[in-house]
Amino acid sequence: MNATAPQTPFDRIGGEPAIRRMVDRFYDLMESEAAYAELRAMHADDLLPMRVSLTGFLTAWMGGPRTWFEREKSCIMSIHRGLGISRATAAQWVDAMRRAAQETINDPPFVSAMMEAFAHMSAGMAPPSEQEAA
Ligand code: HEM
Repeated sequence: MNATAPQTPFDRIGGEPAIRRMVDRFYDLMESEAAYAELRAMHADDLLPMRVSLTGFLTAWMGGPRTWFEREKSCIMSIHRGLGISRATAAQWVDAMRRAAQETINDPPFVSAMMEAFAHMSAGMAPPSEQEAA
């Protein structure tokens, strides 16, 4: 590696094993906590493909190997269009991910910046309902 190259977020937090730990904790929380039941119900029974896919997405998104981006032709926002994501389920996603990140990544400034980005993405995935927009 070029010694002068800026460190990627992927390298900063410890690469794919660190992302996988966070993702696993996220889905473990989703599976076990009543507060995330609505979010859990939106997903398929088997969460293993999601554990693999979210790890792959975040690996590419944080500057690691780009395999997921090369394989997946749709953008992450398009994938979520039509899933019927509400403000409530978006809030559950962000809350579970914040807990998972805080528990598994010992880097509070990084976790804070990452969660800000996830909160923006999640807000875009849950457009206001017609009543809320009126
Ligand atoms: C707004 C809150 C969100 C909700 C309610 C939500 C929900 C879902 C659901 C229901 C699926 C399909 C699951 C299945 O087929 O079993 C999915 C797929 C996925 N989501 Fe989310 N999601 C949210 C936010 C995000 C964010 C912010 C990211 C990225 C940081 C993300 C990354 C992914 C990935 C990578 C997939 C898998 C795509 C694939 O392999 O086909 N999601 N999401």
